[in-house]
Amino acid sequence: MPSLSLHNAVVPVAGLGTRMLPATKSQPKEMLPVGKKPVVQYIVEELERNSFDRVLFITGAGKTAIENHFDHDPNLIRLLREGGKEELLAELEFERSGAQFFYTRQKTQAGLGDAILHAEDFAGREAFAVALGDSILGRHAQSQTLSRMRDAFLDSNCAAIVAFERVPANETHQYGIAFPDGDVVPGETFQLRDVIEKPARGEAPSDLAIAARYIFSPLIFEALHETKPGKGGEIQLTDAIRLLIKGGERVLGMELPPGETRYDIGNFCSYYEAFIEFALTDPELGSRMRDFARKFLESD
Ligand code: UTP
Repeated sequence: MPSLSLHNAVVPVAGLGTRMLPATKSQPKEMLPVGKKPVVQYIVEELERNSFDRVLFITGAGKTAIENHFDHDPNLIRLLREGGKEELLAELEFERSGAQFFYTRQKTQAGLGDAILHAEDFAGREAFAVALGDSILGRHAQSQTLSRMRDAFLDSNCAAIVAFERVPANETHQYGIAFPDGDVVPGETFQLRDVIEKPARGEAPSDLAIAARYIFSPLIFEALHETKPGKGGEIQLTDAIRLLIKGGERVLGMELPPGETRYDIGNFCSYYEAFIEFALTDPELGSRMRDFARKFLESD
């Protein structure tokens, strides 16, 4: 039975991030800034906002900057305090977050499914959320989707709930795509008949792409152990979800509620879009940035 509290979350951050080279040559893509904060800080803020306060990062070689970012830094705090820089001290409030952080390493980048297998001991017999380390949910991470997914998970006897977003029909071959059973209403759950990783062009069963958030019962680990390496020799999480469905388990989907967007920091096009949107809506600098953008576009 899943835990009634359901407050464990797993954040895989071990990927190589090759699509973001050269930015990711010597720093994790999950540490790239979007506006003022690195991507992982938004993810932790989203998890805390949705009451997931035990967070396991699946890290890898070259990812120590992530651990350092969430560590308490007494020297920096002392320097800022002595310099009277109280407003900058406020920017480090996140260091005092109530969340507990855990770290484990994926030694070879054998895919997202393999990364999640590293959470088996951490999760034990409890259900848990997965939040991909390169995707922000909701503008400035204001998403409530994980809370809705948790409520739905605890109300239904299902093995997994997967978040989805609509994507243009000509891009479905880049994503894990849902085969929904019946109508899909944003923010509500729907039954999944199947889920297909990167379907061939023209063969996608819908335009609903996996949107970087999941809730799993521990059954996912059995499915992952049975999953054979797929495209690129990697163990695909989508293939394990598929095994759950084929094994007769109930797996649900949830399209992001109206007004919520997933910001994918895994490729430069959507990274630029996210950065521009967050800068234009920055509470302090947004209006200056919008003036700048207007003038720039008029003069271009
Ligand atoms: P991606 O599918 O974007 O893969 O990972 P990637 O390796 O990071 O990037 P590219 O394709 O080389 O550009 C989605 C999330 O899953 C994690 C990544 O860190 C990212 O947060 N991941 C991926 C792992 O933790 N381990 C893996 O083996 C693969």
